[in-house]
Formats: sequence, structure tokens, C-alpha cells
Amino acid sequence: MWSFPDRGSWATHSGKYRGNWSPYIPRNLILRYSKPGDWVLDQFLGSGTTLVEAKLLNRNAVGVDINPQAISISEENLQFKCETISKMRIQQGNATNLDFIKDGKIEFICMHPPYANIIKYSKDIAGDISLLTIEEFLCEMGKVISESYRVLKKGNMCAVMIGDIRRRGKVVPLGFQVMNIFLKQGFSSKEIIIKEQHNCRSTNFWEKQNNEFLLLAHEYIFVFQK
Ligand SMILES: C[S@@+](CC[C@H](N)C(=O)[O-])C[C@H]1O[C@@H](n2cnc3c(N)ncnc32)[C@H](O)[C@@H]1O
Repeated sequence: MWSFPDRGSWATHSGKYRGNWSPYIPRNLILRYSKPGDWVLDQFLGSGTTLVEAKLLNRNAVGVDINPQAISISEENLQFKCETISKMRIQQGNATNLDFIKDGKIEFICMHPPYANIIKYSKDIAGDISLLTIEEFLCEMGKVISESYRVLKKGNMCAVMIGDIRRRGKVVPLGFQVMNIFLKQGFSSKEIIIKEQHNCRSTNFWEKQNNEFLLLAHEYIFVFQK
């Protein structure tokens, strides 16, 4: 179980991008599952948290996001000096099609997709999976996971952070649904980490629901091996 009550604000990290992850998460994953000089991929780049950590830890990295705003925020966040000599490649694109990356090129994948449509990351960008229904989201995640399998080196790891959501009074076990797609596509399950949630914007809303619901206060970090 991982818990980072102080989310981390070194280098250019800030909590400003909606739904970004604490830099402690990619930092710990990168340290555990890759070596200096390896190629790390985050195909849901957001504000670039993973690439900032890859740069600090001397890993090469590829970042992809469908939203041009995320690309420019990430480019800005990567503008800091450090002693490392890593290569950073950022590209606007769709995580369902990474055809600019050769088969088996990536040594570690560290991704944090939208949790279906609980946060909408754009109004109408074609391909933005945060605008889809749950069924459509899971279908697109199937393509994302298939591309992840293709670009990852055999024997190496792919980590994904994802949370469950609520719909009409019920919990949708989105985390387990996504996990099942990984398993069906040939990945094996290496670790299941429960990540405690802190400072979540929707906590106030759910706390006012007359105790009808328990608060969802965790996310999953699944680590899969190819
Ligand atoms: C949860 S956020 C990632 C936040 C990131 N971990 C950070 O710390 O800033 C999910 C991101 O996925 C992006 N996204 C949505 N659909 C996508 C797609 N089909 N391909 C690539 N990126 C996509 C959104 O624009 C958003 O930036």
C-alpha cells in the first residue's frame, strides 16, 4: 500500500493539472522497474510528471497526449536544468496508435489514463477517451493495451494507475475491468498496489451524501509483465 500525503513539489512539479499524479508514483515505479539509459513511455502525458521524473533519474522518455495544451504544459515543465543527459521526446497523438515507436523499443511503461469520463480533459478533441461512455472507454483501452504490448520489450514491465468510479449509486469496478483487459491480452500480473487518495476535489461532494456511500479513497497501481 502506498500513501503520499505530501504530494511532492520538487523540480517543476505542482498540483495544478487536474487529475495529475503525485511525482512520488512515477519516481518509485521508474526506480524499481527501469535502469538509467532505459526508454520509458507515458502515453497519457498530462502535465509531464512522468517525464520530469525520467529526466531527473537519467532515463530516456517518450510522452504522448491527445491534447495540445497538455503537450505545451509538459514542454514547459521539462524546461529545467539538471546533470543528466537523457533524451526526451514529446508528441501529440493518440495512445491507441503509437506507430512511430518500433516493436519492443520501450523498457518501461508508466501510464495514468483518464478514469473513463469522471474528468473531461477536453470539450471535443477527437480520440480523447475522457469523453467516452464506460463501454467505449474500455474498448479504446483495449487498443491502448495492445499497443503497449507491442512497443514493450519482452520480460519488461508496464505500470498503470486507475481508480474505480460511481454510477447511479453503484461502484463500477473500472480498475478490475482494465486489469482484465491486460490479462486477456497476454500480460501477466506482477504487483497490485493500493494507493491511498489524498486531497481529492470530489471528497466534499461525496461526504455530503448522507452516509449513503462509503468514500472511494484509493486507486490501484497494477504492474504487468510482458
Ligand atoms: C489522468 S491525466 C494524466 C495526468 C498525468 N499523469 C500528470 O501527472 O499530469 C490523463 C491524460 O490523458 C489524456 N488523453 C485522453 N485521451 C487520450 C488518448 N486517446 N491518447 C493520449 N492521451 C489521451 C488527457 O488529455 C489527459 O492529459
